[in-house]
Amino acid sequence: MTDHLTIVIGSYLEPDLIGRIRAAQPAVRVIYEPDLLPVPQYQCDHSAPPRDLSAADIDRWRALAGQADIFFDFDWLDPHAMTTRSPRLRWIQATNAGIGAFMQRTGLDRAPVTVTTAAGIHAVPLAEFALAGALHFIKGVPDLRRWQQDRRWERYASRQLAGQRALVVGLGGMGRQVVAAFAGLGVEVVGLGRDGRTYDVPGLCRVIDRDGLAAELPGIGILILCCPLTPQTRGLIGREQLALLPPRAVLVNIARGEVVDSGALIEARSAERFARLAPRLPAPLNRFYEQLQRSEARHFQLYLNLAIQAAAPAGLDWRGRLAVLAGREAELATQPDDEFRFHSGPL
Ligand SMILES: NC(=O)c1ccc[n+]([C@@H]2O[C@H](COP(=O)([O-])OP(=O)(O)OC[C@H]3O[C@@H](n4cnc5c(N)ncnc54)[C@H](OP(=O)(O)O)[C@@H]3O)[C@@H](O)[C@H]2O)c1
Repeated sequence: MTDHLTIVIGSYLEPDLIGRIRAAQPAVRVIYEPDLLPVPQYQCDHSAPPRDLSAADIDRWRALAGQADIFFDFDWLDPHAMTTRSPRLRWIQATNAGIGAFMQRTGLDRAPVTVTTAAGIHAVPLAEFALAGALHFIKGVPDLRRWQQDRRWERYASRQLAGQRALVVGLGGMGRQVVAAFAGLGVEVVGLGRDGRTYDVPGLCRVIDRDGLAAELPGIGILILCCPLTPQTRGLIGREQLALLPPRAVLVNIARGEVVDSGALIEARSAERFARLAPRLPAPLNRFYEQLQRSEARHFQLYLNLAIQAAAPAGLDWRGRLAVLAGREAELATQPDDEFRFHSGPL
């Protein structure tokens, strides 16, 4: 059966990985034309801006894509039309862990094609980010940075991570790694998975279900969100849940932005600090953060995805949403592209 299968590689992949695919299934034809693919900006960049190709090259890409039974990653040129441009297509292997919103935007959620995600692939780097985010606030890094800039050299005592209690929501690839990272540093880790499921996760003290969330939150020092965005998790952390967290709790959202009801968060004026993990934030977002920082803050909030989607109209890409939220739509159109370049997964 594999004799006739053709895999088209849809985004840059390191040559040794192409070699491994070919070696694993020698009978399968692997089409990999890196000169026709977006140029990666960093290692494992599968969302790079498209290359400036000639019309002839575009035709060549379309001819190759049209032969695919399997796509590794989506067709960068026209993901909306994958099923018509690649009539034999039956399987897409995505390179993202969560692709629900993308599937809806492109209409692929209704296509008769099997789509598999790369769930778990970001477990290690994201667990490191979660740890960095929690320690950033628990060790008072923003204050220390300020003191350093002010040349203020005094003895300083910070809070301690060990001995705190963390709640990890979502116990899959990322969640398990997060549990291991925090448990290894002496944190008491509680888990919240899908109701009715059982989870055997090394390092977890116990698992609660959704009904137990409200009772658990007042004792939680670090709340880490690692679940997919689904109808069940959209807005999981809203006004009521934020109010239940103790005053110095750290919220680390490494899931999708909409798992937190950002509108409620802003309305409640509960965000003391947004960690600026991105190397360059778009100017409108900087102003948005500054507003939040001036607010009467209670909780700390760390967004890796910089996703404040909940309060913005649907159907916009991340740049549009941020601009709308910052009230700077007009400005957005005049910003050069690299003003908006920052490291973030697709929202
Ligand atoms: N920030 C980023 O750059 C980044 C990177 C990667 C992923 N993500 C996001 O993180 C999500 C998780 O990634 P992953 O690789 O860990 O995926 P995963 O391995 O599929 O794990 C997801 C876990 O969430 C659980 N879950 C599903 N619905 C839930 C609910 N209603 N309440 C609580 N838990 C629920 C699943 O339960 P079962 O085991 O019972 O199915 C599973 O254990 C992705 O879907 C994506 O949205 C973000």
